[in-house]
Amino acid sequence: SDPGLVERARAAKATLGDRVFVLGHHYQRDEVIQFADVTGDSFKLARDAAARPEAEFIVFCGVHFMAESADILTGAGQQVVLPDLAAGCSMADMARILQVEDAWARLAEAGVADVTVPVTYMNSSADIKSFCGRNGGAVCTSSNARQALEWAFEQGQKVLFLPDQHLGRNTAVLQLGLSLDDCVVVDPHKPGFGVTDEELRAAKMLLWKGHCSVHGRFTAESVADVRARIPGVNVLVHPECQHEVVVGADHVGSTEYIIKTIAAAPAGSAWAVGTELNLVKRLADEHPDKTVVFLEKTVCFCATMNRIDLPHLVWALESLVEGRVVNRIEVDGDTAHWARVALDRMLALPG
Ligand code: 13P
Ligand code: SF4
Repeated sequence: SDPGLVERARAAKATLGDRVFVLGHHYQRDEVIQFADVTGDSFKLARDAAARPEAEFIVFCGVHFMAESADILTGAGQQVVLPDLAAGCSMADMARILQVEDAWARLAEAGVADVTVPVTYMNSSADIKSFCGRNGGAVCTSSNARQALEWAFEQGQKVLFLPDQHLGRNTAVLQLGLSLDDCVVVDPHKPGFGVTDEELRAAKMLLWKGHCSVHGRFTAESVADVRARIPGVNVLVHPECQHEVVVGADHVGSTEYIIKTIAAAPAGSAWAVGTELNLVKRLADEHPDKTVVFLEKTVCFCATMNRIDLPHLVWALESLVEGRVVNRIEVDGDTAHWARVALDRMLALPG
């Protein structure tokens, strides 16, 4: 990365000292992640943001929904900055609050809303989290989806899982022992959400039809190909991958789990990793004694994560030095209140 910009980022951080705290998601570019005070998966970053009450400014190197969650979880005197406002998430955009409210009305029509608990993946907008808080539900991340679903099935008979159908299906089937027939897809683009009343009554998991465009690129063929190319390879994937990919893999888990699993693996072992490419490249660089390859032959970065680059980070930090808070992410009071209820239910889950 540009040495001039590296120096400027360093100088701005040094001037701000403890007033600024920089969080970096594992999918961020190397040029950005080098300036993170902590790195993590979305669960760890949500907790870490809340654990820095002395920092006036939280600069979030990640995507919009993560910065919103940080704003909800941090104190009133703290301001959250997203270095590029175009860093959204295509999955989070697949569930809009009006669609979700319509779907809830559809469930009521079928007589199942009362027995359904809404659970949203962290990768959703604050108003969807707020909807879940208001309706007795919770947030989850890829590292606690199992505990969140177990909790939800203690509260009700069904779960409406938003917005990632794959995380919902993979967790329900592979971790809770439900069957594929227990799952039904709720499609916001079809009349009546593409489900009959009978299907809604019979199903236990109502899966919103959303997915991650990055993880959706891996297929069962990607797994078969890499096994043929590298005999003995361990396939390690993120639970946002399609069900057939996760079923064909050897290990599945969040980005934090992926990092720990490779760190603990013996020298000489081989790993094909199905997650975003910045992270896989970094793992390959950090573990030269192991073979770490990307699961796909084609490249797939998360385009919106990559929006946060060094020029944007320098601009955000230097603006703070000059007394200007740029790209502040602020969630309104009522939305934040109920979203916090749903986030706190997640934070209270066991282990
Ligand atoms: P985790 O970091 O929680 O595994 O989530 C991955 C992801 O897609 C974040 O957008
Ligand atoms: Fe969203 Fe997928 Fe990018 Fe994560 S990797 S921010 S889920 S598009």
